[in-house]
Amino acid sequence: MASQIVNLTVNGADKEFIARPPTTLLMALREALHLTAAKRGCAQGACGSCTVLLDGEPVVSCLVPVVTVDGAAVDTLEGRASEGELNDLQQAFVDGFATQCGFCTAGMIMSAEALLARSPDPSREEVLEAISGNVCRCTGYEPIVRAILDASARGRARTEEAATATGGEI
Ligand code: FES
Ligand code: FES
Repeated sequence: MASQIVNLTVNGADKEFIARPPTTLLMALREALHLTAAKRGCAQGACGSCTVLLDGEPVVSCLVPVVTVDGAAVDTLEGRASEGELNDLQQAFVDGFATQCGFCTAGMIMSAEALLARSPDPSREEVLEAISGNVCRCTGYEPIVRAILDASARGRARTEEAATATGGEI
């Protein structure tokens, strides 16, 4: 089958590259675009280490043929820190010792980002469900769950601070 040109918006920037039909989104990110935060673990959709956001929704990028998502917006961990500043989730993972070898971390954080975007004040059960497709072989999960809840609290505190500063509702 013929190769084709694929256009993606990756972390807010337009990217164009040539891919063969079997090329996965994960392969395109790592090999064509040199974005290596998303990791290749099982390559079968079972470990979540390759999780990225596709049009805002978490997907296991090892199962997505990249030619089928031409024109989509993709977000990876590389796009989350701004000007060297870690975002709330990244900082909460660091502060809470929620990463050890780090192999699962990018996928965990992207799954958690999607959760916090739709549910800024999640319950512990919602957190567990959100990361149920992400395997961690190191931490025992508890520090990860605490870090996500901590990031949620940091985000809410920031929102309240902004509301107080502007003296209005937000
Ligand atoms: S590498 Fe994609 S789910 Fe394991
Ligand atoms: S920190 Fe090692 S797999 Fe999660």
